[in-house]
Amino acid sequence: MTSAGQAIGAIVASEVLEASGLTGTTEAQDGNATQAGLAERSRQAVWHPCTQMAALAANPVVPIVAADGPWLIGEGGMRWFDGISSWWTCLLGHRHPDVVAALHQQLDTLDHVMLAGLTHEPAVLLAEALVARTGGALPHVSFASDGSSALEIALKQSAHAWQRRGLPDKHRFVCLADSYHGETLGALGVTDQGVFSRQYHSLLRGALVVEGPDNMRAAAAGWDSEEEAVRAAARLEELLTAQAAQVAAIVLEPLLQGAGGMRLYHPRFLREVRQICDRHQVHWIADEIATGCGRTGTFFAVEQAGVWPDLICLSKGLSGGMLPLSVTLSSADLFAAFLGEQLTDGFLHSHSFSGNPLACRAAVATLQVLQREDVLARIPQRASWIRQGMADLPDHPGISGWRQLGMVWAFEMRGGVAAARAVQVEARQRGLWIRPLGATVYLMPPFLLDEPTCRWLGATLRQAVEAVGHGSVGGGGLADVRTPPVAATPDEVRIA
Ligand SMILES: Cc1ncc(COP(=O)(O)O)c(C=O)c1O
Repeated sequence: MTSAGQAIGAIVASEVLEASGLTGTTEAQDGNATQAGLAERSRQAVWHPCTQMAALAANPVVPIVAADGPWLIGEGGMRWFDGISSWWTCLLGHRHPDVVAALHQQLDTLDHVMLAGLTHEPAVLLAEALVARTGGALPHVSFASDGSSALEIALKQSAHAWQRRGLPDKHRFVCLADSYHGETLGALGVTDQGVFSRQYHSLLRGALVVEGPDNMRAAAAGWDSEEEAVRAAARLEELLTAQAAQVAAIVLEPLLQGAGGMRLYHPRFLREVRQICDRHQVHWIADEIATGCGRTGTFFAVEQAGVWPDLICLSKGLSGGMLPLSVTLSSADLFAAFLGEQLTDGFLHSHSFSGNPLACRAAVATLQVLQREDVLARIPQRASWIRQGMADLPDHPGISGWRQLGMVWAFEMRGGVAAARAVQVEARQRGLWIRPLGATVYLMPPFLLDEPTCRWLGATLRQAVEAVGHGSVGGGGLADVRTPPVAATPDEVRIA
């Protein structure tokens, strides 16, 4: 840039900073003017994720100026309960004081340092704590910053390990129908969601897709969920009997397919997967990015099946949702495949921010809160308060497919995507922020809630459904801001 260009750039930058209050202007000086037009400025400058930007003029994004526990605070003090924990991340609610204090302390000590050739206490403490959570079954921890990157590590480790064991043909992956594992190219390659992957078909390797188990389908077909799990396992066995020589790993979300429609399945499937993988020399990657850290009631969802995979990916709630962080936990066998005399015998994968001390410190503090406050043991109590607040919601004629696991509730709106969006609008008007997945309405709230808040949450969702059920879909200007009001294709109904 020329010096004139630099000067203009500096002026623009200082104007932007000033408008954002980042130059030290006090809130009193700025008042609401600071936030005025933030949605429009965001539309101009921020390319929002998973969003049709052309729709934002009519349906602007909602500026959030602060957060407090489970509450998001908008302009003018408007509050919404964060009913899906900010894309399933903030397990403890926002700005938990212990995590904030730990971060302050960490900031005063060590901000960031590379993790090759150097190490630091927060990474070591976190790795040790996670390994202990697996009872030593998965003793080695790799670090990254988001869920998709954790998947990339797992996929690369698996195929590379087979290569090092003299089986280079084992480089394909199996995933479940309707799976979602992220949107970087490797993760997208094992994501069976056409709306996200179709456009990138030529860039993706393409996985072998097998239909997994689904409790809702079992109920509709008239058999129980365990039988459904056994049938799905038989499909997997058949696939691997034919193709295991080319398959490195199966990747799946244990017990709950989240973005694939909040579908639950029986733990028996995971026990069968373990045995099938052992029989066919195939790794099992458990993507616990959504299910992990207690969301399904146990720290890892696989604990409910009593089996361990070869790799686990964790992210989202790991840092209490405060900073970007993900990990991939690997078995001793996988780790051993990369030991050798040469640097190139190792697993040469890195990210600049691998194991960032601040993110790791936030995660350690989060794990401490989970343990000290016995948070997971208290999930059934909190879940039952929320359920009591919902009263007769499961019997509402406008819904079907009622389901719940740990701190996840989901159901289908019989009126389809439009009805689910109407529930979203009604909920928002009542102070509850949710974001249905197509026709699936769901709650994934933070864990630390008192009894009145739990009851309010359940009751508010029920009232939103009742309002729609009685045909009084209000909202006007509050139309869905994240799912554009365009005709949905069959795939688009899955967009969260
Ligand atoms: C099961 C699962 N895997 C992977 C991802 C990708 O994580 P990220 O969005 O952090 O890349 C997600 C995100 O929702 C997910 O739910």
